[in-house]
Amino acid sequence: DAGIFTYDPGFTSTASCDSTITFIDGDKGQLQHRGYPIDQLAEKSHFLEVCYLLLYGELPSAARLEDFEALVTRHTMVHEQIIYFFRGFRRDAHPMAIMVGVVGAMSAFYHDSTDVTDPRQREVACIRLLAKMPTIAAMAFKYTVGQPFQYPLNELDYASNFLRMCFAVPTEEYVVNPILSRAMDRIFTLHADHEQNASTSTVRLASSSGANPFASIAAGIVCLWGPAHGGANQAALEMLKEIGTPERIPEFIERAKDKDDPFRLVGFGHRVYKNFDPRAKVLKQSADEVLELLGIEHNPTLQVAKELEKQALADPYFIEKKLFPNVDFYSGIILEAMGFPTSMFTPIFAVSRTVGWVSQWKEMTADPQNKIGRPRQLYRGETQRDYVDIENR
Ligand code: SDX
Repeated sequence: DAGIFTYDPGFTSTASCDSTITFIDGDKGQLQHRGYPIDQLAEKSHFLEVCYLLLYGELPSAARLEDFEALVTRHTMVHEQIIYFFRGFRRDAHPMAIMVGVVGAMSAFYHDSTDVTDPRQREVACIRLLAKMPTIAAMAFKYTVGQPFQYPLNELDYASNFLRMCFAVPTEEYVVNPILSRAMDRIFTLHADHEQNASTSTVRLASSSGANPFASIAAGIVCLWGPAHGGANQAALEMLKEIGTPERIPEFIERAKDKDDPFRLVGFGHRVYKNFDPRAKVLKQSADEVLELLGIEHNPTLQVAKELEKQALADPYFIEKKLFPNVDFYSGIILEAMGFPTSMFTPIFAVSRTVGWVSQWKEMTADPQNKIGRPRQLYRGETQRDYVDIENR
């Protein structure tokens, strides 16, 4: 039954909850949000429309979408005092460390949307988190590069606003590049939600105790940071750069197969997909488009990535283990081409996944059967024994 944990060494077939938001068929490499295939949403929809779908269960009418986008846009500024919160961090702090701290502290600034039993406060918390996460991520980036914070502009769409808050400087006009905005929007859409991944399960577990939404989402950010999860996009690009040239690929593939070597091919493999991650297919196409636009289609990192993918997919080990490129394999290449440092890759993943965390938080905390998560264990320690006084040890 939902919520009943059974011990499974592979932890692959344990159902932790029931949900109506996202469906994954790992063997077929399928991902659907409220029944809509991810490749159709990536091609035909855009991030805020997908946010509406995840939050409310249906694609919106034109009028509803306009109202929703206006509502989110008008919540993109953060409380002015949050700026002073940033000043407490060292300049070389990782942007994820800043995001964990600032988002966790949001309940101190927005305490009129922390009561999870009040329907209006719940709705306001969802909109505030969705609207302010890009602003907070952009501020974390600006703080670490020593540039002034940029306020959001209401006439820009979500992705363009984020790019402008990251790259605009007061000394010159920032011109929005529609191709880069489209690629940014597509990256947001492809990372929006992914069933019960580790960070979403963390948000569900944290919020099951009744913790406020800002604290619960901060717990998700903490979990996403790990290199086996959302931190993989940063680690994947760093790995591709370490490989450096296509000639060195066989050496790294052999290392990935060596059980005594802790090295893993980052960006490959998945807890659920035993086929191509459908998001990786779309991102591979976006990488080609963005790099061609920027005139760097011969980007050495992309060349290594494409050759590595080709060799790994033909390798008997990877075929036997069903290891395919995942969402993190190509996203870093696009983000680097846009001008982001690797330290910003996971914060961008967090911006995107906020709508997934918030939608799943909303679904779980609205469930009258929602009980505090309390996984059990298989105890493998000592059997009962009596205390031994220190002089007898
Ligand atoms: C994300 O859950 C989600 O939905 C996450 C995510 C999301 O949207 O939220 O999709 C985002 O986190 C994607 C994953 C990003 N992580 C990486 O790219 C890091 C590199 N990948 C691996 O660390 C690994 O693939 C995991 C952690 C993702 C999954 O590890 P598992 O559960 O061990 O994978 P598996 O069971 O399919 O592995 C089968 C075998 C194992 O060998 P055996 O124990 O059977 O001998 O393949 C091996 C693994 O050791 N293996 C790898 C490998 N990934 C798995 N060997 C070399 N390189 C790899 N990348």
